[in-house]
Amino acid sequence: MAKKYYVTTPIYYPNDIPHIGHAYTTIAADVIARWQKLQGKEVFFLTGTDDHGKKIAQAAEKAKLSPKEFTDQLIPKFKDAWKKLNIQYDRFIRTTDPDHEKIVQEILQKVFDNGDIYKGEYEGLYCTGCEAYYTEKDLEDGCCPIHKTKIEKLKEETYFFKLSKYQKPLLDLYKKNPTFISPKHRKQEIINRVKEGLKDLSVSRAGFDWGVPLPFDKDHVSYVWFDALFNYYSATREKSKQKFWPADVHLIGKDILWFHTVYWPAFLLSAGIDIPKTVFAHGWWTFNNEKISKSRGKVINVDELIAIAGVDSARYFLLREASFGEDGDFSEDALIERHNNELANKLGNLVSRTSALAEKYGITKTDKKLLKKLKLKEIEKNLEEFRTDKALNEIFAFIDVCNEYIQDKKPWETKDKKVLNELVEAIREIARLLSPFIPESAEKISEIFKSDNIKKAPILFQKVEDK
Ligand code: ME8
Ligand code: MG
Repeated sequence: MAKKYYVTTPIYYPNDIPHIGHAYTTIAADVIARWQKLQGKEVFFLTGTDDHGKKIAQAAEKAKLSPKEFTDQLIPKFKDAWKKLNIQYDRFIRTTDPDHEKIVQEILQKVFDNGDIYKGEYEGLYCTGCEAYYTEKDLEDGCCPIHKTKIEKLKEETYFFKLSKYQKPLLDLYKKNPTFISPKHRKQEIINRVKEGLKDLSVSRAGFDWGVPLPFDKDHVSYVWFDALFNYYSATREKSKQKFWPADVHLIGKDILWFHTVYWPAFLLSAGIDIPKTVFAHGWWTFNNEKISKSRGKVINVDELIAIAGVDSARYFLLREASFGEDGDFSEDALIERHNNELANKLGNLVSRTSALAEKYGITKTDKKLLKKLKLKEIEKNLEEFRTDKALNEIFAFIDVCNEYIQDKKPWETKDKKVLNELVEAIREIARLLSPFIPESAEKISEIFKSDNIKKAPILFQKVEDK
């Protein structure tokens, strides 16, 4: 098995402070990174921001700042949010980082030299909110299907990338690597669309200058997605990181699956670079059953998320509530319920009862029979394949088993040191398995049960009153 592991998040548009959707992917990536470290792997975990493009340039203009000033003041908000959420990334890349810009230019030149970029004229529809090209049939009442805003008609001189040439190689790739597009149920839609045929893609813009200049024509800047996607690769070009390419997984939301499973591998094929192993698209969060929308106030930012029941409970909720790959609905009540019932009651009680009894009666060595009821192999497989919710279900099924065991054996009556030892060993393993999800609490639990001289635990999860 490979001893290294490379996981990425999308690089987010720094046009506003991060919200729950951004937090979700980033937490999931952090869980995967921490899990792979537990498996003994050397991990590289990349996140960052997508600073270029018209969307950012427009937001900056509205704020009466230069795009650089505008993004500079938002980056700390992202870094701050990730710090509060206990995200252990290895690099925070910005597409304005000089090393990244240099790589993008080198690749543009290479793709141009091999004949896959040619000059032409683009006439069509463009949504700046999506930074994407549309056709008439994609629109709803002349508006962007995502943003519901009026769509811009573009007519300009542009450079095209020969995407059409990659239809067959892409279909071959999906066949050769069946988990490249994950989860499985998202694959067919992409394959069908690719089979319908691919039009060449406009990869430069001449109307504005907030982007990476094309090395072969300084009047144009790179299309923001060409620039952005290469962040995953450029971050591995420094010497100590080169071994991490190709990436093990790009975690993304389902909104940007097309960019990552069609444009991205086509660009890489053209540039002669290895293709990542997996692109995994998770589902979409709604907020109280409504679409998350900044304009209508249906959004929850990271501080609000944490304020409900703490960092670990927020992390836990997001990864347990929705099946990873499916949509989910966020509500404060649902988070509080899981915090109270699962973390405070099930896990918290197990820890506090066991530690109190172990302090009182002590423990003696046993043959760890209780631990045999833990489905470790299944948990490992689930996490290897990004089913974080299923892994948590298994861990909590085992916590139930432990709570039944304590109820059944009544160590407070029997003072049975062996029973208590069984429980202590089980909790040590539970803390290890939960550490990627709830790192701070798991660390506290590990501390309490570290030696055989156990002291009663303080309350780990204070219950939150329902509103
Ligand atoms: O698309 N539910 O950036 P972006 C779940 N810069 N996840 C959500 C979400 C929601 N309601 N809302 C956002 C971009 N996300 C490009 C990416 S990558 C080379 C360039 C998450 O700021 C999810 O991960 O619009 C989604 O893919 C990402 O935020 C989009 O972030
Ligand atoms: Mg978006």
